[in-house]
Amino acid sequence: MKIKYLTLFIILSLSNINFLMAKNFEIPKGTKIFYESGIEKDRLDRKMNRLEKKRVEYILDTFLPNSPATILDVGGGMGVYSFYLSKKGYTVYLIDPVVLNIEEAKKNGETHKDFPLARYEVGDARKIDVPDSSIDVVLFFGPLYHLDEENRQIALKEAYRVLKPDGMILAQGVSKYCTLFNAYFDGKIKDQKMALEIKNTLKTNDLVYKSAKFYTHTPGELKSEIEDAGFSKVEVLAIEGLGKWIDDEYFEDERQREQLLEFLEITQFDSSIMGVSSHIMAIGQKK
Ligand SMILES: C[S@@+](CC[C@H](N)C(=O)[O-])C[C@H]1O[C@@H](n2cnc3c(N)ncnc32)[C@H](O)[C@@H]1O
Repeated sequence: MKIKYLTLFIILSLSNINFLMAKNFEIPKGTKIFYESGIEKDRLDRKMNRLEKKRVEYILDTFLPNSPATILDVGGGMGVYSFYLSKKGYTVYLIDPVVLNIEEAKKNGETHKDFPLARYEVGDARKIDVPDSSIDVVLFFGPLYHLDEENRQIALKEAYRVLKPDGMILAQGVSKYCTLFNAYFDGKIKDQKMALEIKNTLKTNDLVYKSAKFYTHTPGELKSEIEDAGFSKVEVLAIEGLGKWIDDEYFEDERQREQLLEFLEITQFDSSIMGVSSHIMAIGQKK
């Protein structure tokens, strides 16, 4: 009888271990289709997305520790910021679940031979193939857009695990009010379907764009989530702020652009204006 129970216990334990080892995270089909269309190619060089890029580069220049340091760019797409940072002397690992993004990043690597990335990997934010406490900075510029609350916590805890003590996370969120403001700005609010979708986002925080589901945050929600995963000294800032609606012309005129960037720098931590920004960023530290 005892042997029977012992055998059963061993079988159950082994099947549990197998289950844990076999756990592979997949991104939803709609998200895969969205990014496999190549939507990320040159995105940040188009129109006012150039402001997003300029501001993120400014934030990286201002808040990252000095190089040398090891940076993990999770959900880094085709590696725009990975290459920006490797050029500055950082050791950069790029991880993204979409094969096309990693293939394009490798092609980009061919043209950036003087500052190669240390690693390119198809992978998911929820299971990062990197040892505990080995990374100085984790960038999450994408994963939180596409994971539900439970999975965002799994991913954020993975980031916490791989960071060295005092290591930093920089995590972007899509602002909850982004589509509301944009729809009034470009007049799309007059479309009843759009108005209904916006109403849904205001109630649920979810957003559907083309085939992909996005999850949005208010600045306070983003801060709490990062803290819930164990991070301390969390601060949230606006990326584009109200600059999102500035005409292209202002951006192309150097004096106007510099003035806009200065205003954004002055207002970036002000919670009374942050909700207008299309993207927000949390910066936190491993305790
Ligand atoms: C809007 S793109 C941003 C790309 C780049 N980081 C940037 O800021 O330009 C969002 C990225 O998140 C990635 N992503 C989606 N789900 C993810 C997940 N579960 N784990 C890691 N990355 C994910 C997508 O493949 C995509 O490359």
